[in-house]
Amino acid sequence: MPSLSVFGAQWGDEGKGKIIDLLARDVDLVVRYQGGANAGHTVVVGGEKYVLHLVPSGVLHPDKINVIANGVAVDPAGLLAEIDGLRARGVEVSERNLRLSSNAHLIFEHHRRIDHLSEKWLGAGRIGTTGRGIGPAYADKAARVGLRVADLLDAERCRARLGAAMVEKNAVLERVYEVAPLGLEAELERALAIGERLRPCVGDTGAELRAAYRDGRRILFEGAQGAMLDIDHGTYPYVTSSNTGTAGIPAGAGFPPSWIDDAIGIAKAYCTRVGEGPFPSEERGARGQAIRDAGDEYGATTGRPRRCGWFDAVAVRYALALNGARRWVMTNLDVLSGFEEIPVATAYRVGERALAEYPAELTTLDGCRPVFESRPGWSEAIGAARRFEELPANARAYVEWVEERVGAEIVMLSVGPEREQVILRSEL
Ligand code: IMP
Repeated sequence: MPSLSVFGAQWGDEGKGKIIDLLARDVDLVVRYQGGANAGHTVVVGGEKYVLHLVPSGVLHPDKINVIANGVAVDPAGLLAEIDGLRARGVEVSERNLRLSSNAHLIFEHHRRIDHLSEKWLGAGRIGTTGRGIGPAYADKAARVGLRVADLLDAERCRARLGAAMVEKNAVLERVYEVAPLGLEAELERALAIGERLRPCVGDTGAELRAAYRDGRRILFEGAQGAMLDIDHGTYPYVTSSNTGTAGIPAGAGFPPSWIDDAIGIAKAYCTRVGEGPFPSEERGARGQAIRDAGDEYGATTGRPRRCGWFDAVAVRYALALNGARRWVMTNLDVLSGFEEIPVATAYRVGERALAEYPAELTTLDGCRPVFESRPGWSEAIGAARRFEELPANARAYVEWVEERVGAEIVMLSVGPEREQVILRSEL
């Protein structure tokens, strides 16, 4: 397919980094179009672990072009640190293989501070954000007071816009949150210096992507977070501040919707969530901890322990429908080795009412109880399996049963963190 959307079909952390890294072999460009450094895509290559926050996963393949499109919220200092970190490990990151949209919005220190402080004020109602300033930066974008990458390349314009923004932000910091204000000059100097270093990579990435598609080049759109964290369709207000799936591509990358040729969802064989908010199939007891231990379920960005639970067929069905995906990849199947039985949420119950489909209203989801059906587990480690037939019979039966419940084909299984630890079930 000339263009492909790969998106998270749960609450983020579905193992997208590894799958995108694999799929990147067959494309020419890899594009991030939403989110920011709240994402943490982990890729293990030859025993070496790379955690990418802003730079698209295609960077680990020398011949790919990686695009940070206009819909991404870019922390310029973080981006530069990530680029330098990759270069220090021998990975090429240059204007040749990294393109940055001049229209992408920027995250500054005041966004991070306000992110932390507003969470504190929300108290029990907090969202549990990553603290990376994502929400406040997107809020400024919508309020039309944000700065964009192009502003970093014009000192006068940057001074005027950052100066104006900081008058207001400092007033909020001092008078609402009662903390010390930030200094404009230091912030400005830092921003302009970073802008100069990023300048060679900056361009009109929308035009570049449209030209690439017209030239028949293959494009992979790398979603960050997951469908259930989508600002419009997720478990609002416990969501991130962008459209996390295929619907986010046209606006977030300047790419015509009718040019998105295919979509593939990624979901774990179980389920996790970081931060607050509803999670119907959550397993709070010892079995939840067992999943956390086996899956090393700690945030790649914040190190927070992830909440763990069982596969939720209702949520994944909803995510695939929302994204128009008929195929998906099941990751982390190896983590389920050793459970005697494996519950799966196949419906929800609200009072006496059974819901087969996802109810998009939070008030309903809040009171939702999962209806679990259990499958027998398996004890063998499966990390060495490369063909479906090599899996224990119960693991095969689990996969096929979940596939039927979701009603969409599982094209690939991931059975470990390494690039080669996959089972391909049909052509991608
Ligand atoms: P924010 O995106 O930092 O504003 O956080 C909003 C919500 O999205 C919080 O519950 C975060 O834990 C969650 N979130 C943001 N990015 C990720 C991610 O990459 N993986 C999983 N959860 C995320």
